Amino acid sequence: MNIKIGIGFDVHKLVENRKLLLCGVEFDYPLGLLGHSDADVALHAVADAVLGAAGAGDIGQWFPDNDPAFKDADSGKLLQFIMASNELANYRIGNVDMVIICQQPKILPQVPAMKENLAKLLNCTAEQISIKGKTTEKLGYTGRGEGIAAQAVVLLEKV
Ligand code: CDP
Ligand code: ZN
Repeated sequence: MNIKIGIGFDVHKLVENRKLLLCGVEFDYPLGLLGHSDADVALHAVADAVLGAAGAGDIGQWFPDNDPAFKDADSGKLLQFIMASNELANYRIGNVDMVIICQQPKILPQVPAMKENLAKLLNCTAEQISIKGKTTEKLGYTGRGEGIAAQAVVLLEKV
């Protein structure tokens, strides 16, 4: 088999006085995501999908959230570190598909910028990436605007 698939999921809480970063793009929104790192829930889901496909654990094992080195860490840098690691050395990205689940803000207008950012981090093209926003029809924690969830699947191809 020359392909490997991985799944990633993440949730972060929305609070005041934090930035809202999704795939490294800052959203103009009154609340932001809480976390030890910059809490970019979309990049965390992608990172876990990449690691899952490579059979290389998860983001929490690579970058423990009690390690002061990763306080307010740029999640893009963490993803680049994973992509440059020995574990990923023999793989390239096939494609990425992602769902960002939140009642607000609307994701769609920022999708092109998010794809561009993510493509750079993953050493692939924007055409290999799909990003979709979805509400939960005001149901549950995402529907009440208490947090944002993200799901991603990544296909890796052996080079
Ligand atoms: O219509 P359906 O229930 O499938 O989807 P929705 O959750 O009501 O969202 C309608 C459309 O808004 C989606 O197809 C996305 O294109 C967009 N959307 C978005 O850009 N950002 C969100 N946070 C949620 C939805
Ligand atoms: Zn996270």
